[in-house]
Amino acid sequence: MTSPEAAALVLVGPMGAGKTSIGKRLAKQLGTTFADTDSLVVREHGPIAALFAEHGEAHFRALERAAVTDALARGGVVSLGGGAVMDAATRADLSAQRVVLLTVAPRVVAHRLGEGAKRPLLADGSESPLAHWQRIFDQRRPLYEQVADITFDTSSGPLERIVTAIADWA
Ligand code: S3P
Repeated sequence: MTSPEAAALVLVGPMGAGKTSIGKRLAKQLGTTFADTDSLVVREHGPIAALFAEHGEAHFRALERAAVTDALARGGVVSLGGGAVMDAATRADLSAQRVVLLTVAPRVVAHRLGEGAKRPLLADGSESPLAHWQRIFDQRRPLYEQVADITFDTSSGPLERIVTAIADWA
């Protein structure tokens, strides 16, 4: 159980939902720190695509789990990689935090995922990146809903409006 001072405001949701962009702005608006688990992994271990390619997804998930523990202990605003909620220990940790689920409509996500090379899960070649995104989101939706206290759809409107809505709720 995390102490109240260290409690984090955590953003979860699928790739392309805007977790990092919104998280950075939200932290600024709330006058607190921002941490992103993908960035923590990259800083310590190098690019995510290379980790998947050289060591496999399970290795990445173990590094991601360590980054989640680290980020939650720091508090502030924390953005989790889209697959972090697959880890049962992470889901248990999130029960002590305020958790915001960011969703996005498929018609919008296609534009946001332009830099697909950074997201190895969408580039496995067996189906279109968007079809793959949809399938992964459908699989994970129950996990996102299990950990989330509130949901915001980021499909339309300026990011600032969503940031303010989250800050008002928090
Ligand atoms: C992943 C999402 C990515 C990153 C990795 C795997 C996933 O993070 O952690 O490529 O499994 O959904 P973003 O959600 O920040 O793109």
